[in-house]
Amino acid sequence: MSAASIASFSGRSVLVTGGAGFVGSHVADRLLSQGAEVSILDNFSTGWHQFVPAGARLVEGDLLDPGAVRRALEGCEFVFHLAANADVKDNLLQPRKCIEQNVVGTQNLLEGMRAAGVRGVAFASTGAVYGEATVVPTPEHAPFPVQTSIYGTSKLAAEGLLTSYALGYGFRVWIFRFVSLLGPRYTHGHVIDFWRRLRRDPTRLDVLGNGRQKKSYLHVGDCVSGMLVAIGGSGEPINVFNLGHHEWVEVDESIAVITATLGVKPRIVYAGGERGWVGDSPRVLLDAARLRALGWAPTRSIPESIVETLAFLEASPFVNDRQIPPEGLPR
Ligand SMILES: NC(=O)c1ccc[n+]([C@@H]2O[C@H](COP(=O)([O-])OP(=O)(O)OC[C@H]3O[C@@H](n4cnc5c(N)ncnc54)[C@H](O)[C@@H]3O)[C@@H](O)[C@H]2O)c1
Repeated sequence: MSAASIASFSGRSVLVTGGAGFVGSHVADRLLSQGAEVSILDNFSTGWHQFVPAGARLVEGDLLDPGAVRRALEGCEFVFHLAANADVKDNLLQPRKCIEQNVVGTQNLLEGMRAAGVRGVAFASTGAVYGEATVVPTPEHAPFPVQTSIYGTSKLAAEGLLTSYALGYGFRVWIFRFVSLLGPRYTHGHVIDFWRRLRRDPTRLDVLGNGRQKKSYLHVGDCVSGMLVAIGGSGEPINVFNLGHHEWVEVDESIAVITATLGVKPRIVYAGGERGWVGDSPRVLLDAARLRALGWAPTRSIPESIVETLAFLEASPFVNDRQIPPEGLPR
């Protein structure tokens, strides 16, 4: 990583949307540690006051409110846009909310930026845009066969808005397609789902799918480093990067790490089927060669990241107070 040119925001004023959430709060932390002035726009729908870093200017408001976006953008030169309805499964149950938060909210932000003369934005997209990829590991230029989730659809639509604003209004955009992220402040995804279930009943673990889904994960710290390396090493009007680990693990391997770490031996009960829910791609491995060529590499293995995530969850029982995974998902 030493050869990489990492973007420095020292002395610059940056807005982080979703800065009270899992990933956004880490972005805000890193920018503050570089000496940036950081503003956060968050409506706390899934964010936490505990995650907002000291030293950031907080605008508590909604992306759908142009006034809040305007206030948040005051004095800013660059935006990290992470606010979204980020849970793939929840979005299946709430399609309108998903499109409003992830697509309409993104356009509100871009319009606010246009009015304020802010032209640089990094956007948190997802590997879900590839649907069930036909090429694995999946490079950025892989074909997008069919969208398999409302969430992926919303992110792809938002990507379209960003690229249109780049070409139409002179924006410079960085689009990051993340795999699932792990690490401190993690509040949604399979590790917390399993952790919650095992806290309720350590003798039994219900698993969506057949346990054989195989996916890549990445530590949130490596993700933030990846974004900064990409921004430091590229500067086209449109820059698209996959951000994922070269490792991938089966759900069963993940369960083995989780149960060993928690010291439990549950009976595993599989719901069956290749997918856990509609939109759950059985194989996710992104080709991050474009970013690696700039000198970035992950610093933690996936099992290490799972263990660190569990340590956070064990130390932070407040995250169990809400976001109970919905039951009765279409499968
Ligand atoms: N965590 C992952 O594994 C992962 C993977 C791929 C992509 N992403 C993307 O990364 C971004 C961050 O995800 P996360 O895991 O930190 O999710 P998160 O739910 O922890 O954070 C999202 C934040 O956005 C805020 N927010 C949501 N809607 C808002 C709105 N309309 N106005 C203002 N604030 C709003 C929430 O309160 C929350 O603080 C999202 O865009 C997500 O889609 C995350």
